[in-house]
Amino acid sequence: MEKPMTDVSQSQEWLLLAEHFEQIRPIHLKQHFEEDPTRAESFTFEDCGWYVDLSKNLMDSTTLKLLLDLAKACKLSDAIEEMFSGQKINKTENRAVLHTALRNCSNTPVFVDGEDVMSLINSVISRMEKVAERIRSGKWRGYTGEKIKTVVNIGIGGSDLGPCMVYEALKHYSDRSLEARYVSNVDAAHLIEQISDLDAAETLFVVASKTFTTQETMTNAATARKWLTDQLGSEDAVRNHFIALSSNREKVVEFGIDPANMFEFWNWVGGRYSLTSAIGFSLLATLGKDIFKRLREGFHSVDLHFRNSPLERNIPVLMALMGIWYNNFFRTQTYAILPYSQYLHRLPAYLQQTDMESNGKSIDRSGQPVPFDTGPVIWGEPGTNGQHAFYQLIHQGTKLVPCDFIGFINPLAKSGDHHEKLMANFFAQQEALAFGKERSILEEEGIAEDQIPFRVFTGNRPSTCLLAEKLTPESLGSLIAFYEHKVFVQGVIWNIYSFDQWGVELGKQLSIKILDELKEGERDGLKHDGSTNAQIRHYLTNKIR
Ligand code: F6P
Repeated sequence: MEKPMTDVSQSQEWLLLAEHFEQIRPIHLKQHFEEDPTRAESFTFEDCGWYVDLSKNLMDSTTLKLLLDLAKACKLSDAIEEMFSGQKINKTENRAVLHTALRNCSNTPVFVDGEDVMSLINSVISRMEKVAERIRSGKWRGYTGEKIKTVVNIGIGGSDLGPCMVYEALKHYSDRSLEARYVSNVDAAHLIEQISDLDAAETLFVVASKTFTTQETMTNAATARKWLTDQLGSEDAVRNHFIALSSNREKVVEFGIDPANMFEFWNWVGGRYSLTSAIGFSLLATLGKDIFKRLREGFHSVDLHFRNSPLERNIPVLMALMGIWYNNFFRTQTYAILPYSQYLHRLPAYLQQTDMESNGKSIDRSGQPVPFDTGPVIWGEPGTNGQHAFYQLIHQGTKLVPCDFIGFINPLAKSGDHHEKLMANFFAQQEALAFGKERSILEEEGIAEDQIPFRVFTGNRPSTCLLAEKLTPESLGSLIAFYEHKVFVQGVIWNIYSFDQWGVELGKQLSIKILDELKEGERDGLKHDGSTNAQIRHYLTNKIR
């Protein structure tokens, strides 16, 4: 196979886009809509339960064509096939990337090193379902014979954000017989606040860590074990109250968890893509196996769509191309995720890891510095809260912030006209951003001349609308998969490795040395830079012993 070009910004396709950018930049969205009355229909795509309207983006059909040409020049279709077929595309870790196999509900074979991984996946899921069912039905008993009432997931990053986000998102579907809590921060406050009102006899800890070496998780897990054994009076209690989700059997055993209570996943599942692996166990236990299955089906429908749809109608591809358009031509620095659903309040945080840990890279696949911007800063809050906090900047600030508005036609939580009000804001904000409010309208309204400049809305601020019928396990799975694949496509075009995360290592290494210094004091003198030395000394001097 022909190698992809190293510096895509030197390609003919990129240069044509740069030229086109200069032509289209002065055109206001208002003008785009006036000139093309069918624009909304032309740029709306429906599949996998989602209505995705791209028409309020700063582009036209030429832009889209040129962006698609760029994707083709980067051999995107080949790259998609390489991922799905289990090739070792995570080259810096020499691993396949097969989160798509985890939710491959069609069960078609998927091979890694000549082995069909579907039987591995299915057997772990079926073991997880059985154990989750025993917990849910009360057959699983704690050390003192009590039923489990609370599942505490201890993990961080991909071993926390995904399950926590989905648990919050799908709470409505829970029969509330079992509660999940999530502990991630090594700050003891997190663990203490989450468990201090619990009865150890009715609590199950799920230690979720791919490596089973992550400092935060192992520290929290050890403290949780001590809390539990102190309360229940025996080390033997660990067996009834600890489950491990990991790919490191040896470390699980070393920690003292019975391998019979371990659910494994594999090195071809990246942490931030592990939600539908064993890492989702807390969801199976609290929401039940049907909901977990429906979630996986939602993911799978987008996987099929992504693999099989032509690039021109491929929703994650189009989302990725819009992102590249803003990032590399408008030179925007950030991207806002604005879910109009309180249930999705953890979605922006979850997508921060998906996107920023994947595409926050500055070295290309040949080891050279990337000569253009890669992954944006991802941020957001649920609407309408964001409206009363940072929308001012999006409407009238000096920065262009592309936004995704995520909404649902029917509410899960019904009460009076709350939902109509929520969705009226959802539509209104996108309209306001795109079309603004001109001086002439303010004049007609009789606004005083000296007030007018402050009240003008320039508009021409882009947004994408993602609208589904209802927040369901399926629509949520599909939504997450749209973003996962969007990030993948961008990584292919930027020619960076999206599936490693070397950038998290240095801080971890330095903290090990500093931890020693904080515990032991300044024995052999501090050998950091002046600022770090001074900070540590200030800490040591003022610490209450
Ligand atoms: O430090 C980053 C990271 O490696 C993430 O990629 C991962 O999701 C998280 O830490 C947790 O890792 P583990 O599941 O191995 O504890």
